[in-house]
Amino acid sequence: MSAARLPLIIDCDPGIDDAVMLMMAFLSPRLDVRAITTVAGNVPLRLTSRNARMICERMGRGDVPVYAGCPRPMTQKAVTAEDFHGMTGISGIEVFEPKAPLAKGHAVNALIDLLSAPPPGGYTVIISGPMTNLAAALVMAPHIASGIRELVVMGGADTAGGNITPTAEFNIYADPIAANIVFDANIPTVVLALDATHQVRAAPPRVARIRALPGANAALMADLLDAANALETRWRPGLWVPMHDPSTTGWILAPHLFETKPCRITVTTRPGKDFGRTRIKDTAKGPHRWVTKADDDGFFALIEDLLMGRA
Ligand code: BDR
Ligand code: CA
Repeated sequence: MSAARLPLIIDCDPGIDDAVMLMMAFLSPRLDVRAITTVAGNVPLRLTSRNARMICERMGRGDVPVYAGCPRPMTQKAVTAEDFHGMTGISGIEVFEPKAPLAKGHAVNALIDLLSAPPPGGYTVIISGPMTNLAAALVMAPHIASGIRELVVMGGADTAGGNITPTAEFNIYADPIAANIVFDANIPTVVLALDATHQVRAAPPRVARIRALPGANAALMADLLDAANALETRWRPGLWVPMHDPSTTGWILAPHLFETKPCRITVTTRPGKDFGRTRIKDTAKGPHRWVTKADDDGFFALIEDLLMGRA
């Protein structure tokens, strides 16, 4: 195992694709998952918190602390996505009560504590749900921005159009005020929006290749992806599930699979047809990077390598 493992905090709302993302992070010997924080998103907080702990347990990582965070967005009513994740939030696996309880304390406090005392070089932070937790932490303790080496966000849409309205993507739409607070914090941020994730879809032959690999992890991932595909095609006939959240770990482990452009991102918070839309302004230096291209074959090869212990 490499000595230079990347210290990682994952803020998520599992969510089938969040679960696949968590699996990828646990499978990589290069990543050191220090904490998971959960937020209300795809399903209510109680379920996202249980689902995160279920994946930890199935991956033999019940030692990783899971902190429950904000049970609702900053100012609006919660929006959920059971249509695409099932009523449990994690269709495809049998639900159970994990042995490890939630870690003590609120996720926002945990983020503040961790990011106030970062390891040398700082933390890499993934956000794969509404950005409420980090936004609240930044409001309470703005200094924590400097504890983040790189923020990797799944959210937003530009050329691809939205998936919850014609212009808005779910994670941003679910809490646009939080997204604006986070984007305004000048943290070096890479954004995997629908423009990128729609290029990487789990077509059935790809899931079959994963299922054919030896081991319980491959079977678990294939079960999740089959379930996600069944839901996706029910609502969007002819389309296979995009690897939204898994693209974040893909970026961290294999950035050469992606192309980016520097920009500054803002979010429309005014009520109306563009509510929750991400606006991209090209800039020379960022602080954000918008992913424009993703290598889907390379991404699925990475998943196979992770499952086979080759990555
Ligand atoms: C995002 O929305 C959620 O349903 C998924 O988990 C992903 O984070 C995609 O728009
Ligand atoms: Ca998610």
